[in-house]
Parts: sequence; structure tokens; C-alpha cells
Amino acid sequence: MAASTDFAQILIDGMTTESTPAIAPSALQSRALRDTLGQFTTGVTVVTTRDAAGQPAGMTVNSFNSVSLEPALVLWSIDKQSLGYDSFTQQEHFAVHVLKADQQHISNLFAGRGADKFGQVHWHAGPDGVPQLEDCAAFFHCRRVQCIDGGDHTILLGEVLEFTANGGEPLVFHRGRYRALAGD
Ligand SMILES: Cc1cc2nc3c(=O)[nH]c(=O)nc-3n(C[C@H](O)[C@H](O)[C@H](O)COP(=O)(O)O)c2cc1C
Repeated sequence: MAASTDFAQILIDGMTTESTPAIAPSALQSRALRDTLGQFTTGVTVVTTRDAAGQPAGMTVNSFNSVSLEPALVLWSIDKQSLGYDSFTQQEHFAVHVLKADQQHISNLFAGRGADKFGQVHWHAGPDGVPQLEDCAAFFHCRRVQCIDGGDHTILLGEVLEFTANGGEPLVFHRGRYRALAGD
């Protein structure tokens, strides 16, 4: 099976000449799983909300996906170590912004831990006061309806209350890198 061959190769790569594992097997397995999951190509989004003090909070997310049309539901998952964890799991609303190909710098900005993210982008208070980034490919304003435990992440299920599509070429993420869509 290809997956086990890859894992065996990673194990070999992780061995020193004395055949002592340089990296713990569980760490190797975790890296192999991450690399294999990275074969799945996604778009890139920025999710936003407010913290308990009313300050804007946001982070880059590629776990966003559609769930249901009737009712309109979407999901994404948040790392329990994220600084924004309490805000996203406690506030009633969040917004999802699908990034365009020329918004890689916004993805990098919102992937920064605790950085001053909102001082460097154009945004305004959207529905229910949730920060809304300007000029993205698509926008979804959501009400959080459920938090589902998912190991080291929590899955947030949201009901879509409002949405807008602006179109444009999307930002694409594949195997840990930003990519451009191949032409039709
Ligand atoms: C392309 C990309 C996708 C990401 N997707 C997720 C995700 O789905 N869930 C998550 O918790 N973190 C994801 N991250 C990592 C967060 O953006 C990053 O940990 C960020 O620093 C969290 O911000 P905070 O700790 O200030 O809240 C992603 C990062 C990148 C670059």
C-alpha cells in the first residue's frame, strides 16, 4: 500500500546511522499523517468574531466546509491551543471570508499567533458587529449552533444567516503551500 511505503520511507529518513530514531515514532506518524492530509486541496478562509471585551479576533482556516443546504450549515475546526479559542467557542456569531488568489498576505497575517491582525487590513463591523473583511471572494455570516469535540480541535457548526459571493480567482492551499488554479 502506498501510504505504508511512504511511512516506511519517513521512518528510514528519521533514523541516524547508528539506527537510533532521531524523531520519536509517534512524531513521525503524526508528520506522515499531516503530509498525507496535505494532499487534499482546499481554499483558504479567514474567520472572524469578537472577544469577550468586544475586540476583533480572527484566524486563517482551511478546515472550512459546507455541511447542509436545508438548513444552511457550515463547519470548521479550531485548534484548542489557538489564542482565539475562547472567543470562537463562546461568542454567538462568526464570519467566514473566502480569500482570493491575491490575498496570500492576508492569509499569512491571520495565521500569525496573536499578531495585530486588524490594524493591517480593510474591515468594518458587519452583521451583529462581527468584523467583516473587505473585498474577499465570498462572505458567510454565521450563528454558532454547536461545538463538537474533535480531539485536539473543536468543530464549530454554524448556521449561515447571510452570504455574499464576489467571485474572483480563489487562493488555493495544497501540501503546505499556496497554489494557483490551473487554467480550464
Ligand atoms: C492555510 C492555513 C490554514 C489553517 N487552518 C487552520 C484551521 O483550520 N484551524 C486552526 O485551528 N488553525 C488553522 N491554521 C493555523 C492558524 O491560522 C494559526 O494557528 C493562527 O495563529 C491562530 O491564531 P491565534 O492563535 O492568534 O488565535 C491555518 C493556517 C494556515 C496558514
